[in-house]
Amino acid sequence: MLTTKNLGYWYDRPENSLFTDINLEFEQGQSYAIVGQSGSGKTTFLSLIAGLEKPRVGEIDYNGHSINDIGLTKYRQQNVSIVFQSYNLLTYMSPLNNLLTAMAVTKSSHQGNQKYAKDMLRKLGLTDEQMTKNVQRLSGGQKQRVAIARTMCCDAKLVVADEPTGNLDEENTPRSNPTLPRNRPRTKSLCDHCYS
Ligand SMILES: Nc1ncnc2c1ncn2[C@@H]1O[C@H](COP(=O)(O)OP(=O)(O)OP(=O)(O)O)[C@@H](O)[C@H]1O
Ligand SMILES: [Mg+2]
Repeated sequence: MLTTKNLGYWYDRPENSLFTDINLEFEQGQSYAIVGQSGSGKTTFLSLIAGLEKPRVGEIDYNGHSINDIGLTKYRQQNVSIVFQSYNLLTYMSPLNNLLTAMAVTKSSHQGNQKYAKDMLRKLGLTDEQMTKNVQRLSGGQKQRVAIARTMCCDAKLVVADEPTGNLDEENTPRSNPTLPRNRPRTKSLCDHCYS
């Protein structure tokens, strides 16, 4: 489904490469963990396969086509859902409206289905009261669970999650981990925290 070919990246100079010659294959329906020390380049690698940044060297193919040729914006819109370390929720909305908006923007098969969105938030441990108040009034872990629920309400084939449970406690981490992998046959790339 997703293949990296001789992938290399640096920020300032080639001699400061974060990684070189990364050749990996990610298959549909599987979960993968990208593990490494802080500062080793996990977020950078995820930003490449999510189509947020272009590799300095090498290529990323999605179902046999270079994501550059597909166009990074189109690739992301049609295929990728990202759970950011910093949530990236719409801050002027409730959790429920964050989900409904994402479902509409991505033309999810569940578009407009409030019950589906509410059930997903409940699965992630949000109460009915929490899901209708402004997201800014939620804790970091609650925001993170909303971001995970949002991803699961969209039909993206590739879920890229950067430390998706880094802000969650022991009770909520198992709630989120099964939710991410089980939902549908997709490919997920997960950064380290959920496996630590
Ligand atoms: N926009 C940027 N410009 C320059 N250097 C950057 C930029 N973003 C990250 N870096 C550097 O690249 C290296 C890798 O960063 P990255 O965020 O990918 O690491 P990480 O493995 O995700 O770390 P962590 O586990 O702490 O999240 C770090 O040394 C960081 O300082
Ligand atoms: Mg990181």
